Amino acid sequence: MRKIIFASNNKHKAEEIRAILGEQFDIITLKEAGLEIDIPEPHETLLENAREKSTVIHRLTGMDCFSEDTGLEVEALNGAPGVRSARYAGEHANANDNLQKLLAEMKGIANRAARFKTVISLLLNGQEYIFEGDCEGTITDSASGTAGFGYDPVFVPAQHDQTFAELGIEVKSAISHRKKAIEKMTSFLGSLENN
Ligand code: IMP
Repeated sequence: MRKIIFASNNKHKAEEIRAILGEQFDIITLKEAGLEIDIPEPHETLLENAREKSTVIHRLTGMDCFSEDTGLEVEALNGAPGVRSARYAGEHANANDNLQKLLAEMKGIANRAARFKTVISLLLNGQEYIFEGDCEGTITDSASGTAGFGYDPVFVPAQHDQTFAELGIEVKSAISHRKKAIEKMTSFLGSLENN
């Protein structure tokens, strides 16, 4: 089974990625690889941040690895918080601070359209491959649900009437931005195995 390091410390993301991948690949988190490292996300695009993480880990380990960066783009806020999703309410903000700031910014705004966007940077034998996925939806007026993480309690995916945090990991992992990006990566990896 192909072993790949997932260059992230986010255990929620690792859990979702394992749920999406099933038994196809052996995904190793940074912690499992014995790496205690916090990789910064200083750039202006999701791709540059994802690339920074995969490049640092590939340099340190020499192993195949992938990373992802995700942002929530809200139409009425001209794409904010976007690449700044993790730091929306300030440098040391937590998920609840960010989500409360978003609800405050969206107060009274009728256009609730938003999308999650995930960009993956995969480094295979030192060569980079990029995969993207997005998920359209709307921002609620208040937070609901306890599953998931980040902005999940305020995001209702299209064709649903509950937030990701209410729908739970099984439904989210079938339709999410992360699922779509991961699926592209796995079909690429699958095509390599078959050649
Ligand atoms: P990053 O990709 O770890 O930089 O995440 C950016 C921000 O978006 C963080 O605040 C995350 O909590 C949030 N985020 C990332 N992915 C998701 C998701 O699938 N659902 C909800 N929030 C997310």
